[in-house]
Amino acid sequence: MLQLTDFSTRLIAWQRVHGRHDLPWQNTRDAYRIWLSEIMLQQTQVSTVIPYYARFLDRFPDVNALAFAPLDDVMALWAGLGYYSRARNLHRCACVVSMEHGGEFPRSVDELAELPGIGRSTAAAIASFAFGARATILDGNVKRVLARVFGVDGFPGEKRVENTMWTLAESLLPDAAHKDEVTAYTQGLMDLGATLCVRGKPDCARCPFAADCVANVTGRQKELPASRPKKTVPTRKTWMLVLQDGNSVLLEKRPPTGIWGGLWSLPEAADEDALAAVAHSLGGTAELQRLSPFTHTFTHFKLDIEPRLGRANGVPDAADNQTVWAPLANIDAYGVPAPVRKLLDALQGSLI
Ligand code: ADE
Repeated sequence: MLQLTDFSTRLIAWQRVHGRHDLPWQNTRDAYRIWLSEIMLQQTQVSTVIPYYARFLDRFPDVNALAFAPLDDVMALWAGLGYYSRARNLHRCACVVSMEHGGEFPRSVDELAELPGIGRSTAAAIASFAFGARATILDGNVKRVLARVFGVDGFPGEKRVENTMWTLAESLLPDAAHKDEVTAYTQGLMDLGATLCVRGKPDCARCPFAADCVANVTGRQKELPASRPKKTVPTRKTWMLVLQDGNSVLLEKRPPTGIWGGLWSLPEAADEDALAAVAHSLGGTAELQRLSPFTHTFTHFKLDIEPRLGRANGVPDAADNQTVWAPLANIDAYGVPAPVRKLLDALQGSLI
């Protein structure tokens, strides 16, 4: 059985040689940059995050720039990354740091964890990367590594199993050592989970823990960590209206909460007739053309989308700021959910 104290020593040695050292948010102690990356990386992989991260920093070089930007600008820049509550919380967090902390992120895990959008693990990642704090992270990748190396049974999303893992993760931290070691340790946990101890086909041959890892030694890489107990996700259905006027389509601002909260999207209705009524009320002609249906999968449900194309002629902008005629060639300027964006992109060629 692997000695708990050996874990950090071996992980740090491995990270120094085989870990990642040149990601855009590394080699800095700037808490703003580190926080931004950690929020983006919460549910999104590195390769997707990199271009978004660069655009955000370009546009909002520090926390005050982000705090003073309109939320709409932040949402537009976030569009496509998904999990949009992250973007709303990002903006709220920037406002709190700017207004209540004088533009400086607090240094303690507890204070960081009180900020919008920052949970216990993200707070620890920021504290360890930005301030060299001896703080424990436990994200999905780390749970996978610990479940395998130490043979922790049970679904890690379950509270009881998660609590066990927090206790284990805390006991594995390196001694209060140099700041650099904490950073290398935290990064090492992430790197091992992301590069070797991956979900599908872990590369055990290169892993520094291969000889001691419970999953490897017992051939249970596929069973550890245990998967979420199966439950079927419900399906909802919606009809979406692509109302076209020349080269523009009508977008509606979604309510601030709920799915795609605060983004610009297409008008919707619960069935075909209701959508025809919506089209009519917006100045569209009576007949709607059927477009190919598609399904978008959220974490907790599936959404079957039935798009319909309608025409309008010279309908003026509404005065309420909640609808806009957006030129198809300029949809980028609006925060539009990725599946809606895909639908409009596919249509763009054929409409004009
Ligand atoms: N995932 C979460 N945080 C990360 C980081 N700092 N580097 C790489 N992947 C990550």
